[in-house]
Amino acid sequence: KKPDPCSFVIFGVTGDLTHRLVVPALYNLAASDLLPDRFCLVGVARKGMTSDKLRQSLLKGLSQFATRPVDEAISGRLLDCLTCIEADPKDPASFDAMSKQLGELEAARNTGGNRLFYLATPPNAFLPISRELGRTGMLAENGAWRRLVVEKPFGTDLASAKALNGELLKLVDEHEIYRIDHYLGKETVQNILVLRFANGMFEPIWNRNHIDHVQITVDEQLGVGHRGSFYDQTGALRDMVPNHLFQLLSLVAMEPPIRFDAHSVRAEKADVLAAIQGQSEAEALRNSVRGQYLAGRIGDSEIADYRKIEDVARGSTTETYVALKLMIDNWRWAGVPFYLRTGKALGVKRTEVAIKFKQAPFAMFNCTPVERLAQNFLVIGVAPNEGIALQFNTKVPGPSILIDGVEMKFRYKDYFKAEPSTGYETLIYDCMIGDNILFQRADSVEAGWKAVQPFLDAWKKAEAEGLKTYKAGSEGPQEANELLTRDGRSWRKLG
Ligand code: BG6
Repeated sequence: KKPDPCSFVIFGVTGDLTHRLVVPALYNLAASDLLPDRFCLVGVARKGMTSDKLRQSLLKGLSQFATRPVDEAISGRLLDCLTCIEADPKDPASFDAMSKQLGELEAARNTGGNRLFYLATPPNAFLPISRELGRTGMLAENGAWRRLVVEKPFGTDLASAKALNGELLKLVDEHEIYRIDHYLGKETVQNILVLRFANGMFEPIWNRNHIDHVQITVDEQLGVGHRGSFYDQTGALRDMVPNHLFQLLSLVAMEPPIRFDAHSVRAEKADVLAAIQGQSEAEALRNSVRGQYLAGRIGDSEIADYRKIEDVARGSTTETYVALKLMIDNWRWAGVPFYLRTGKALGVKRTEVAIKFKQAPFAMFNCTPVERLAQNFLVIGVAPNEGIALQFNTKVPGPSILIDGVEMKFRYKDYFKAEPSTGYETLIYDCMIGDNILFQRADSVEAGWKAVQPFLDAWKKAEAEGLKTYKAGSEGPQEANELLTRDGRSWRKLG
């Protein structure tokens, strides 16, 4: 289905995100004939930019970041729709002029006035831009639709996220706000719902009676690189947990929605996040491990100490690694720990959810005591091994009973041939057709921040105390193992 005719207005059009992801994704949509027939692409820039210069710059971006060979006819058609408009929220007159220009463009292109404003800007620009859009009437409905797409990070803690939601909701309705979390653009993440709810065999055992615990791992090899000033203010917890890791957690832990629509799915996701158990300061310290990386080697690259990165404070106490233990207070999950970990500059890239089932209740095979049997894990591989694996025990062929762990594997690439994509295509397409299912609702965002706030508060108070270190290229701080070993458990080993 093709989206309605519309204007697609990008703020932050000269930035990295637009060049790397948004325009390559629009290109892929154009190549699949999924852009509206009548379409205006508007890039909003500060003074000095022209449509021609912007076209050149985006074309150069495409040649670098497109996920498939660029066909000039398609890129030409896409960028022919491009107009650069100069506007700066510090200069209200520029927004008045923009409103007029946009109206004229829409009349010329006959788009019917539908507008999507994509804020691919640093977060401190979200509100000033939205307010100007509101003041000039560009967000008024006038018989057409209006949508506001907001990138992450959405706030820096519970109070700021609430304040931002409050302000945006004065300007547009909840269903008109599309808060992006790029994890929801991943096929493997969307598939968690299908795995659970399009199969009859998992759901009956998907609960505290059969599941011992859940592990969510997002290990990255990448260090902080050139993002020092952003990252040092942010840290691993804020950067990854309330958004990406909680997307994984909520899809794995939510109750079945009554329908596959935005309202029902998002309500269940928000509910499960709201059920994450609160923590006192002492509990938050006991149930978390934070670490910062020291120099080391990853493959052929030498990585410097985190504190030596440009724009990182020399005595920084910002964590580049975090591991947490969370509990969910509801009937399905009472007593089942969710262990989460994520970090930068680690030895191996791995994004996965591993669901550990309870051991067999009784040791019938004397050869192997129950505790030595391989653990029954169902592993949802998000990256780089996209697929699902089930680990179980098998008899080793031979005259006596010997038992060993084996794995049954589904790999996407064995079954499906997908065009390489940026991961933004579905998200951008859904914004254009008005489907919010893959976007964060205000209550989910706030529930996510609420769940991590005790850690933020406890760490702020503790400052450097309790901050562990780990060598770049390692598995992270040792203490992250103790978070599980003290419960008689361990992180799933690779291979
Ligand atoms: C971003 C974070 O949101 O997600 C980055 O700001 C992180 O620090 C990235 O590297 C991880 O995304 P992915 O898709 O590579 O797991």
